[in-house]
Amino acid sequence: MNIAIDLGTSNTRIFVEEKGKQLDEPSAIAHNTETCEIIAVGEQALKMLGKTPSAIEALYPLENGVVAHSYLVEDLVNIFLNEVYTSKVVMPRVVASIPIDVTDVEKRAVVNAISSFGVRRVYLIEGAKAAAMGCNLPVMSPHGCMIANLGGGTAEIAVLSLGGISVSKTVKSAGNQMDEDIIKYIRRKHNLHIGRRMAEQCKIAIGCVIKPEEEKTFTVKGRDALRGLPKSVVVTSSEIMEAIIDNAMAIVTAITDVLEKTPPELIGDIHSDGITLSGGLSQLEGFPELVKKYTGIATVTVANEPLDCTINGCGKAIAYIDDVEHTKDGEIIPLMAAY
Ligand SMILES: Nc1ncnc2c1ncn2[C@@H]1O[C@H](COP(=O)(O)OP(=O)(O)OP(=O)(O)O)[C@@H](O)[C@H]1O
Ligand SMILES: [Mg+2]
Repeated sequence: MNIAIDLGTSNTRIFVEEKGKQLDEPSAIAHNTETCEIIAVGEQALKMLGKTPSAIEALYPLENGVVAHSYLVEDLVNIFLNEVYTSKVVMPRVVASIPIDVTDVEKRAVVNAISSFGVRRVYLIEGAKAAAMGCNLPVMSPHGCMIANLGGGTAEIAVLSLGGISVSKTVKSAGNQMDEDIIKYIRRKHNLHIGRRMAEQCKIAIGCVIKPEEEKTFTVKGRDALRGLPKSVVVTSSEIMEAIIDNAMAIVTAITDVLEKTPPELIGDIHSDGITLSGGLSQLEGFPELVKKYTGIATVTVANEPLDCTINGCGKAIAYIDDVEHTKDGEIIPLMAAY
């Protein structure tokens, strides 16, 4: 039996061969800092974020797509894999997505976390490539295609052809950084201190990166920074846009940088087919329009089910596992390495 896992900064998704996506949970974990006991993972741990007593810590153990707290990631992966994989007889083979520009040490950390579950082998695939496969882009053909996978910790932009990445760029500040920017903005402008979950809810509800046609509002609740007492403030989409636009522009600049470095034959394909956006942050209102405006590319589309592109692509990549073991000369396979 083969499994695919997308261990994202914000969400972890697991795909089981012949069954499809079986798990989709926040990559959050809560543990007792004194006894090291795991209190909760996923949705349950997310609910505890910012609300725990002093002996308990709830956190996201991955940062910018890489393992930041290795023991906690190991526990998280083990608990999640146990939920979907119950066979005690056959050890699974696992396809895992990793960001493009990771070091060998960072790669090892992901492999070790998964291996601790007891797996036969781990095969890696770049997240952007998996996302492109999940969007049904012609990744394996000699035709250029471009994906911008915009997640919580990273925004990865890649031009792909013949199963490989021709040009790419990673921006290590995406959805989570925007939440932080909203926290700072609201504190500065309204003297209101809000938590990360509130900032994220506000971004999802009214966030936008182009001037909104209709001004939406959202009530943020937190602590008055001056008096220390509970307070709520109504913020508008224009204010949230002001808070997050610099980060959005950093992503757009990375997209234009990638286009500038793309070989002429491939850029022709991208000019006619356009750019596909995937990942949770691609749903931010106005992102395709912003990309269109600064790249001049007429077709910029958000993928169907943008949150699931990477895991669906990892699931498709399972079909190439056997090819890794028996590659013939010149054969093109999307999987990167086996451990
Ligand atoms: N409707 C929405 N509008 C704006 N942002 C959204 C929306 N839905 C989700 N997001 C944001 O998308 C991000 C999560 O996306 P995703 O699940 O693709 O990330 P991830 O795969 O866990 O992270 P990464 O790929 O960076 O490691 C979060 O920052 C979340 O706030
Ligand atoms: Mg992701």
